[in-house]
Amino acid sequence: MIIIAIAAISADGCMTKHDQRGNDFTSSKDKVFFFEALKSFDCSVFGSGTFKDTKEHILRSLTPNRLRLVLTNESNSFQGYETPGALIFRQANPLEAITELKKNGCSRCALLGGKTVFSQFLAEGLIDELWVTLEPRIFGHGASMFEGAFDQRLSLISAKELGSSVLLLKYSILK
Ligand SMILES: NC(=O)c1ccc[n+]([C@@H]2O[C@H](COP(=O)([O-])OP(=O)(O)OC[C@H]3O[C@@H](n4cnc5c(N)ncnc54)[C@H](OP(=O)(O)O)[C@@H]3O)[C@@H](O)[C@H]2O)c1
Repeated sequence: MIIIAIAAISADGCMTKHDQRGNDFTSSKDKVFFFEALKSFDCSVFGSGTFKDTKEHILRSLTPNRLRLVLTNESNSFQGYETPGALIFRQANPLEAITELKKNGCSRCALLGGKTVFSQFLAEGLIDELWVTLEPRIFGHGASMFEGAFDQRLSLISAKELGSSVLLLKYSILK
């Protein structure tokens, strides 16, 4: 399974603007890139917080060719949203989540956050690449992409300007 973590952050490393939930701060160029990029994945994993923040869009865009696995300890609360083959809710550690996705025939996973999810997968050594959009903004305060003490080395695959001052950096995670 190839696992690629994808996020948009401010130039000072914030994944949210201050305490505001969601990622409304991202540019239209990043949004175009993000939704286009997702088409190359057959599954995605994210936490219940990210699901709640973006559920209107997710529920509108469910497709049988990309299985979304939402991590939650409260899967009963989300039963009404469960859509077999397209949207499932699981209490699982990263390895269990990946095993379930593989059983469903998936081989290319977009890991979409938030920070607890990114951190668990990084700690298990499961992330192959990191795709970060760097928005030309400084927030000073906001959620970071990872929590805990890491010293993960990266190797730059590519750097591309998506639009005016918006950079897409693709890194491989050195194992
Ligand atoms: N800028 C970006 O690219 C980007 C990307 C992603 C998220 N965000 C934003 O970042 C902010 C932070 O999101 P968040 O902290 O709410 O993070 P989140 O990772 O989306 O949600 C965290 C929740 O997921 C569940 N969870 C995580 N790992 C689990 C596991 N192994 N097993 C079972 N449940 C698990 C737990 O929820 P339960 O309470 O349900 O058990 C946990 O409280 C949000 O505002 C989000 O919109 C931004």
